[in-house]
Amino acid sequence: MLKEHENRFKQKSFSINEIKYCDGKANPSIHYAGRFAAKEAIKKCFLSSELTDQMGLNEIEIISSKNGAPIVSAVGNYEYADLIVSISHESDYAIAVAILVI
Ligand SMILES: CC(C)(COP(=O)(O)OP(=O)(O)OC[C@H]1O[C@@H](n2cnc3c(N)ncnc32)[C@H](O)[C@@H]1OP(=O)(O)O)[C@@H](O)C(=O)NCCC(=O)NCCS
Repeated sequence: MLKEHENRFKQKSFSINEIKYCDGKANPSIHYAGRFAAKEAIKKCFLSSELTDQMGLNEIEIISSKNGAPIVSAVGNYEYADLIVSISHESDYAIAVAILVI
């Protein structure tokens, strides 16, 4: 998606902060892939908990704390107790896990 629709894809799925973060890295694609995986995992949490039946990836923003840990800084306007996300990546692969506590 980045190769074929770079700017459109970035703007549709990522916030300005996320774009700044990923583009500032030596290998931006893997950081985009990790955040994309995290956003899909978060979206699935919300869909399966039935808090909503639709969510755009651009409703979700993931920032990085000082030590590098990802933090969900925004996710629409829903009420929940906690939302935890973990991202890992290695060469061509990225994976993420999200836990939503309602
Ligand atoms: C915190 C730590 C686990 C992160 O490992 P890493 O190899 O950088 O992580 P990965 O490459 O798999 O994934 C990168 C993602 O980890 C996440 N991450 C980075 N630092 C993190 C932290 N302190 N806490 C939680 N998540 C973190 C980020 O989301 C990052 O992706 P992003 O920059 O695109 O947001 C690492 O710094 C560490 O301490 N590793 C242990 C090393 C060790 O003890 N080795 C023993 C060898 S015998």
